[in-house]
Amino acid sequence: MSEQIKSIAVLCSGGDSPGMNCAIRSVVRTAINLNLEVYGIQRGFQGLLEGNIKKMDASSVGNILQHGGTMLQTSRCMEFHQADIRKEAAHILKRKKIDALVVIGGNGSFNGAWSLHTEHAIPVAGIPGTIDNDISGTDYSIGFDTAVQTAIDAVDKIRDTASSHDRTFIVEVMGKKSPAIALNVGLATGAENIILPTKNEEIDFEQIAGDIKRGIARGKTSSIIIAAEGEKPGLCYRVQEELKNSYSIDAHVCILGHIQRGGNPISTDRLIASEMGYLAVKELYSGKSAVVTAMRHGEIISVPFEECLQKKIEVESKYLDIVRTLSI
Ligand code: F6P
Repeated sequence: MSEQIKSIAVLCSGGDSPGMNCAIRSVVRTAINLNLEVYGIQRGFQGLLEGNIKKMDASSVGNILQHGGTMLQTSRCMEFHQADIRKEAAHILKRKKIDALVVIGGNGSFNGAWSLHTEHAIPVAGIPGTIDNDISGTDYSIGFDTAVQTAIDAVDKIRDTASSHDRTFIVEVMGKKSPAIALNVGLATGAENIILPTKNEEIDFEQIAGDIKRGIARGKTSSIIIAAEGEKPGLCYRVQEELKNSYSIDAHVCILGHIQRGGNPISTDRLIASEMGYLAVKELYSGKSAVVTAMRHGEIISVPFEECLQKKIEVESKYLDIVRTLSI
């Protein structure tokens, strides 16, 4: 067992996600309960390198848990891929007498934290936080349900106007390499079709057009296609063009974009973030040196960091089957 930690810092990294504030609050207040000194690092690993670190107390995190975004702000720090830069970050933590680090973010952020641990023996705890829900080793990452709900609300509104005009819409949701948002939103909004990022190269236009035409023939007043954004936003314009040129189908496009990342976290995200923050600090305090607070089979448990470093891109084919079955 390693030496008892006396101080801890927390940062958010990568894309923000609703519920990060709940996790920060939980980390800070759990640490205070254990008589640890606690620091907030502003703007992720970038802020760490700039020494943008401030002492937190119980009131620093008052009245934040209901808000989206992150009060610590976040960044995507490309420099952190360099070993010499990470060495500098480790020095900064040591100079500030920070014994352990909690990183709230996705798998890129976890890789940065893991390197700090393996290269400089810094105890780290990861709290999964990304709307993409694509971190290996955990069934859930904070922000996913809120993002899905935000997209569902938007698609429901689009459905209202689509059926008033007998229209087809292609709605693009976030999730660079992750199919999770598209699958969940597609099923929950009764989408006629879902286009997944892993299948960008092989979109079955024949089938999509056939489904739309069949729906219209049986009296449907609207069709919604949910498209995951893929490598970069804008895939839906390609789909729109192909449907027009090859099948004479006029479709409207709506890219939901970053509205999916904002907004007040719904209950799932508040509860899970609070529990994960609490567990992360307890684990570091008890001497664990590299853990992630993961959800497995509905339970929040601490798992070895190494299990959560990959991107999870499994397609739940079950969801695709249900969508196809129900959207006749
Ligand atoms: O945080 C995840 C995510 O929202 C992805 O779904 C999306 O592709 C990406 O971030 C967008 O990142 P940025 O806001 O840096 O453009």
